[in-house]
Amino acid sequence: MRKISLERARAGLYVARTIHSLDGIVLLYAGSKLTEENIQHLKSYNITEIYIEDELSKGIVVTDVVREDIVLDVKAKIKTIMTTPSLKISVDGKKIMELVEKLLDNILNSDFIIANLSDIRSIDDYTYSHSVNVCILSLITGIALGIKGENLKDLGVGALLHDIGKIMIDEKILQKPTNLTINEFDEVKKHTVYGYEILKNSNDVNSTAHIIALSHHERKDGSGYPYNLKNNDIPLPARIVAIADVYDALTTNRIYRKKMLPHEVVDYMCSLSNKHFDKTCLDAFISHIANYPVGTAVMLNSGEKGLVAKYNKNFPNRPVVRVVIDENGKMLVKPKEIDLFRKPEYRIVDIWDI
Ligand SMILES: [Fe+2]
Repeated sequence: MRKISLERARAGLYVARTIHSLDGIVLLYAGSKLTEENIQHLKSYNITEIYIEDELSKGIVVTDVVREDIVLDVKAKIKTIMTTPSLKISVDGKKIMELVEKLLDNILNSDFIIANLSDIRSIDDYTYSHSVNVCILSLITGIALGIKGENLKDLGVGALLHDIGKIMIDEKILQKPTNLTINEFDEVKKHTVYGYEILKNSNDVNSTAHIIALSHHERKDGSGYPYNLKNNDIPLPARIVAIADVYDALTTNRIYRKKMLPHEVVDYMCSLSNKHFDKTCLDAFISHIANYPVGTAVMLNSGEKGLVAKYNKNFPNRPVVRVVIDENGKMLVKPKEIDLFRKPEYRIVDIWDI
């Protein structure tokens, strides 16, 4: 299977993965043959990408670090929790911990702890998808840094609730498609303090989560908010969540901007290593991020073009590539596989569209 933008989707293609709406309703089942009508239907739900199965991508399997049904379940539950009116006072820490344990269990049982979250989702469900993704990415980074047991779970709870304070901010400001005024931005910044207060008032929520809500926008060089903390004055869990938060935000389509590709975001974030982000945390994070997720169409330095077919354990950026077009632009009758881990002379230089 491989992922294509809905713009490039044509009637007759086969859908490789079931497509859901925000509420978990099935829009189109895996195995369906696309029609013009259902392409328009998906567009009306703000779906921007789909997985398809075709001759070129036959046998390529995209595996998630957390099973899709579990992500959907956690997303639906977090939505229920976050839209409960009493939330403006406190949250039920035990319920949140159950969700984190579910995600963590799945991550620890996956063969490859490589995040592949630039996933198929509607623009509308950003808040809930973002919370779940930041939780998964933070847990993965925490594991890579050797954090274990209760500390790891507390990191997950804080990551899942890092933006909880946004429920106190005017929706009109949060959804504004244009640049915020200075006053509006000052208002948005308050979500950190509001989040801290909500979680402090909550039962069974550890102080790690309070600190994450308060400090996930602090930056290593002191340019963050709310208190312009620097370096190790920013608690470790907040440094981890800051990275997951920025990565997921930039790899997602928003009302006011188009998403960036994973490798572009990684390049951008590396340029801010030791400025905005803690280098040790960023390095741990990057070692578990695939710049070119399985199913991505890529170009090699040899000029050959193909699809990322599978990862090599611990080397997400030296995957196996299924070459389908040779260096002269000719479609190969029989595709060949190049393992970039075994062939160091090859590297991915760009992505392309099929
Ligand atoms: Fe935030």
